[in-house]
Amino acid sequence: MEALLNSLGELVFVLDKEHRFVFATGPPSAFLIPPEKFVGEKIDKVVPEYLVNLYYKAFQQCSQKRPVEYEYELTIKGEKRYFVGTLSCIYIDGKLNGTVVVAKEITERKKAVQELLRLETRYYNLFRSVPVGICVVRMDTWEILEFNPKTAEIFGYSVDEFKNIKIDALYVDPDELKEVTSKLVSDGEVNIDLRMRRRDGTTIHVKMLAKHREDDSGNHFMEIVFQDITKIKELEQALRENLNRMEVLFEDIVLALSKIMRFKDLYTDLHQRRVADLTNLLSQKLNLDEETARGIYIAALLHDIGKIAVPSDILSKPTKLTDIEFELIKRHPIVGYEILREVDFPWPVAEIVLQHHERLDGSGYPYGLRDDEIMMEARILAVADVVEAMSSHRPYRPALGLFAALDELSKNRGKLYDPYVVDACLEVCSKGIKADHSESIFRF
Ligand SMILES: [Fe+2]
Repeated sequence: MEALLNSLGELVFVLDKEHRFVFATGPPSAFLIPPEKFVGEKIDKVVPEYLVNLYYKAFQQCSQKRPVEYEYELTIKGEKRYFVGTLSCIYIDGKLNGTVVVAKEITERKKAVQELLRLETRYYNLFRSVPVGICVVRMDTWEILEFNPKTAEIFGYSVDEFKNIKIDALYVDPDELKEVTSKLVSDGEVNIDLRMRRRDGTTIHVKMLAKHREDDSGNHFMEIVFQDITKIKELEQALRENLNRMEVLFEDIVLALSKIMRFKDLYTDLHQRRVADLTNLLSQKLNLDEETARGIYIAALLHDIGKIAVPSDILSKPTKLTDIEFELIKRHPIVGYEILREVDFPWPVAEIVLQHHERLDGSGYPYGLRDDEIMMEARILAVADVVEAMSSHRPYRPALGLFAALDELSKNRGKLYDPYVVDACLEVCSKGIKADHSESIFRF
């Protein structure tokens, strides 16, 4: 019998009505002293006091003939172990004759429960303390079933107030809620920036990460993480406005620089702005990206700035230039490059200016570059420069006209000028002529 009980891992104690052990058995490792030493001893002699107290308490409760369970712990060889004991009273002929305690070790189960509790506490604390709002919402009623204090704080409510809030009341735009819901059901999750409403009616920007969950009964839930990004959005807006102001300032400075030429030669100022205008049309026609087009536009506004170093009487000379005078003029791309290369433009403005008089066959200046040696931006600027120069009046000749300019481009398409840019220019200019039966393709 003892062997059978031991194999079950149970401890069995039988005590007489004086609470003296008459029988004790169980795995020896579950005892503080060997079980045989219990026999003949009163319980308070061989059992720790707190366990004796538990025993008597259970005994008081089981005197009505029902067994009583109680848990106890023992530190055996330095290790804390847990047991559950069941005390039954033995009655013979209606008289109490003794007690039986059957105990079973529950250390493993107890430790597993303690670990679960520890993890639950840890995750609950994490849930409460994370700096983002977390909540679970029922999708048919919009009730917020669970939420952490941060969620209530984000929306300006106390935790108690927030218990009565439904999520749809927090949306600024009801259509956004519909959009979130349908995306959630179709994709399973949503990652979206939204405007939502605080308790005081102010609008906040939140990043919402939500997952869809359906339980076994077919109820749908949203599991949501909210992050208040209002400050980030405000900062972004301030940065955008600042950037816009800087861009306006930058353009004003470039225009001011371009207008400097007005004091040297009125024609050059106007010419630069008209060429810049035309490069914009060409960039559009050639499907250039916005950034490249802007670089060409800025370079065009400044492309003749090097003429600042050419004496005014040469620039406005009404008669043909001498070779020496022309050599002086031909230096203007290099002077322009020298002026602009120190400026840290986000585009190769100085290089474009340096190359705007180069020609595909190597007949241009200052370096006689050929074909692909000439950057694409400079090839576009060259075409716009020629068209504007020939269309306009010069001190030493009247305007040749847009038709003559386009004729020059056609004749030298692929020889002097990039064929694709020429084609784009012919198309742009012909549209300009058709529009108002004039040659006005320029803003200025
Ligand atoms: Fe030029």
